[in-house]
Amino acid sequence: MLNIAVFASGNGSNLEVLLNTPFKNGKIALVVSNNPKAYALERAKNHQIPSIAIPRCDYPSQQAFEECILKHLKEHHIDCIVLAGFMLILSPFFIQHFPNKIINVHPSLIPAFCGEGFYGIKVHEAVLQYGVKVSGASVHFVNEIVDGGQIIAQKAVSISKQETPQSLQKKISALEHKLLPKGVQILINQTIQAKRK
Ligand code: GRF
Repeated sequence: MLNIAVFASGNGSNLEVLLNTPFKNGKIALVVSNNPKAYALERAKNHQIPSIAIPRCDYPSQQAFEECILKHLKEHHIDCIVLAGFMLILSPFFIQHFPNKIINVHPSLIPAFCGEGFYGIKVHEAVLQYGVKVSGASVHFVNEIVDGGQIIAQKAVSISKQETPQSLQKKISALEHKLLPKGVQILINQTIQAKRK
């Protein structure tokens, strides 16, 4: 059984879906947040899953912050990581500890409307501003390039004439809730395969 850590900074609706999904050969074993007020932490408690808040501002450097996270991951024997609304960018130092073992969900069709600065409602505002006719959700591996790792799964949604950033966000959030559990199962399967080699 692989142990999965979910990193979330806010509401945690994606986390909730994962906590309610039975995975083959894996389970959510830890929730990590940089935000002590994140509702995601409540969700973890409600499911009796260990959770920890590690604010970035408590550490003198990004590396010290990430070393603290790594220590907790080790204590909980974490095999792979899911970024589900985690609002901080992890450095190559951290990512190298989990090569091909971190995935992220992003609310656009990568490689469009992604990378640094494209987060939350800003993504959907940029999509509508540009005038594209479809957007969607992507699940991808995390590497040193922000939103640049290999794509695992994508789903598209069409944009209506009356679309607002908020209505688009809602539609895409529903897509993410279908897509992310599939991505997590793929992550588990690949991690097990890699262990066998
Ligand atoms: C999602 O839209 C995800 O794509 C993005 O952050 C949002 C998190 O939503 N990375 P929630 O906290 O899971 O409700």
